[in-house]
Amino acid sequence: MLIAGNWKMFKGPAEATAFCRELRARELGNAGVVVCPPCVSLASAVEALADTEIAVAAQNVAWEAEGAFTGEVSASMLLEVGVYGAIVGHSERRQYFGETDETAARRATAALGAGLAVIACVGETEAEREAGETEPVLRRQVAVFEAHPDLVVAYEPVWAIGTGRTATPEIAQDAHAVIKSVLDVPVLYGGSVKPENAAEILSQPDVDGALVGGASLDVDSFAAICLAASRS
Ligand code: PGA
Repeated sequence: MLIAGNWKMFKGPAEATAFCRELRARELGNAGVVVCPPCVSLASAVEALADTEIAVAAQNVAWEAEGAFTGEVSASMLLEVGVYGAIVGHSERRQYFGETDETAARRATAALGAGLAVIACVGETEAEREAGETEPVLRRQVAVFEAHPDLVVAYEPVWAIGTGRTATPEIAQDAHAVIKSVLDVPVLYGGSVKPENAAEILSQPDVDGALVGGASLDVDSFAAICLAASRS
């Protein structure tokens, strides 16, 4: 089980330090725990979590090692500050910043090649689900990644992200099974995971953890989700 907290564009360095100091004092159980702060807060989080099992990942990573790529941060730069992995292909990057299946795949390949772990995000929109296209969309999105021991996929139905609408455990299980039929890697569920629904979703056979947005910003709720994961 892996629980990753995607902070999105919340918590600068001072807040990140305070959160991580609080988190390391909590009982979190035995699931793997990762926090994904914004880029400027990565070093603070790494420092505040030193000598713990809690890992720190970035929310994005460049596909090139260095060069004239304004606004990008490379895998080796992330490794230099003690970051262990990166999210790629999050639906917000696809929706607002032009990320595509191809660019997400290039980011994953570069990150894995440099020694970072990768959480690759996929998921259908509401329109795609209503049109009965969920399965082909997931197959297309997942097919661009290559299996790797340090790769996990996060299934995040776009209609469930930040909306309070969680996929039912059955919807999550079905989607995870489709993803695993294309790529044999662990699959996290993401989309309005909260302490109240975590245990039920995480109990599904093909759900190997969660990528948590909103509920990861609060130490109490994030710790409660980590504990629910270690019980399932
Ligand atoms: P949410 O976000 O938990 O706030 O729905 C999940 C995500 O986007 O990773």
